[in-house]
Amino acid sequence: MDIQNPKGTRDMLPGESQLWQWIEQTMREEAALAGYQEVRTPVFEHTELFERGVGDTTDIVQKEMYTFLDKGGRSITLKPEGTAGAVRALVQHKLYAEPLPVKMYYLNNPIFRYENPQHGRLREHHQFGMECFGVKGPTADAEVILTVLRILQRLGMRDLSVKINSIGCPACRPGYHTALRAHLQSHYEGLCAQCKDRFERNPLRVLDCKQQGCQAIVAGAPSILEYLCGECQQHFDGLQALLRARGIGYKVDPGIVRGLDYYTKTVFEVVMQSPRGELALCGGGRYDGLVEEVGGPSLPGVGFGIGTERIILELNNQGIAPPQAPVTQVYVASLGEEGRQPAFQLCMDLRALGVRADWDHMDRSLKAQFRFADKQGVSIIAILGGDELQRGSVQVKRMADGQQAEHPLEGVAATIAAMLK
Ligand code: HAM
Repeated sequence: MDIQNPKGTRDMLPGESQLWQWIEQTMREEAALAGYQEVRTPVFEHTELFERGVGDTTDIVQKEMYTFLDKGGRSITLKPEGTAGAVRALVQHKLYAEPLPVKMYYLNNPIFRYENPQHGRLREHHQFGMECFGVKGPTADAEVILTVLRILQRLGMRDLSVKINSIGCPACRPGYHTALRAHLQSHYEGLCAQCKDRFERNPLRVLDCKQQGCQAIVAGAPSILEYLCGECQQHFDGLQALLRARGIGYKVDPGIVRGLDYYTKTVFEVVMQSPRGELALCGGGRYDGLVEEVGGPSLPGVGFGIGTERIILELNNQGIAPPQAPVTQVYVASLGEEGRQPAFQLCMDLRALGVRADWDHMDRSLKAQFRFADKQGVSIIAILGGDELQRGSVQVKRMADGQQAEHPLEGVAATIAAMLK
């Protein structure tokens, strides 16, 4: 076939669905334990939301957004991240008027970024994210970090590192910008063209540049942690005390600034090893100015996003598979035209009792049906052969030990359902 999926996208095929569903189930359960409720926002939003929210000096807004004019001439952008949409919904529907905090999560949101596709970097990926609105203190920061760690732990992951940092607030960041600019000024000619622009508009973004020349310059830059105001320092100390109280091994890394402009105070990442070095599995932080930026009241927020495809990469790296449940538990095999109707009925009766049952849609021979059922890994085969049909009965074979017995057709669905328990 000539037509293939677009570069940087992946198909989730039926064989992978158990893995995705296991991950989703774990996320849903942990989010519910922490009191978060699901939010679903549109796949596309007005471009202005991301320009204002994510920031017009970020790589995401400058280079990576899928932006187009719709037929009405409006500038529309496919979601390049999940937080801005959640904040827009919170503001638009005045959810902040409810008792605080407002806690919401999104599950496998499709996210679009026009990036160079490579290991773990897609143009369409899916994110689970949690956002907590209305809490000023570090307990909410700790809650979201602990929840994502619980999810990863429940999936069986080991050896992940948690890195945290504080990037200050509007009170202390200007002082840091001045110190950072002074450092960058003395290496100005060595900066890439984009960082020369960032130098003026948002020097913090230079810390995030992937160009080797810029990284070398940044290595000698002053640390933001030396410029935190009293409130930011207290918040950061408070978060660390909470993480230590839960026995979480974390590293303070002043190099974590994150690629989105809305962050204030806490930023964090959970990182994994990849063939090209470290890769972020999860990223998040606090964004105390974003709700106001999007048109709402002054309301603090904190959250994270985690990419499902990267979780799957890391599960594969660590050789972890989901608990396997057979697709079909009972296969109803039948012979000839006269067997079709009762086989169909039995299959439907079994499904009505909550049993994953299937039957032959393909007019296969009995032998071929047995082979097919065996391959599916079913627990029980019910056989409606010519003799059984005449006697109004059915053979029920348990695959684990080969034990087989004849039962009256009437009521056999309940017998089989009981055998499975
Ligand atoms: P982010 O760090 O840009 O943060 O993305 C979060 C996660 O999405 C990453 O850690 C990674 O697992 C996954 N991810 C990002 N880009 C790609 C890609 N191109 N291909 C595959 N996976 C990717 C945010 O988006 C913030 N909205 C997170 C947040 C929520 N902060 C506060 N609340």
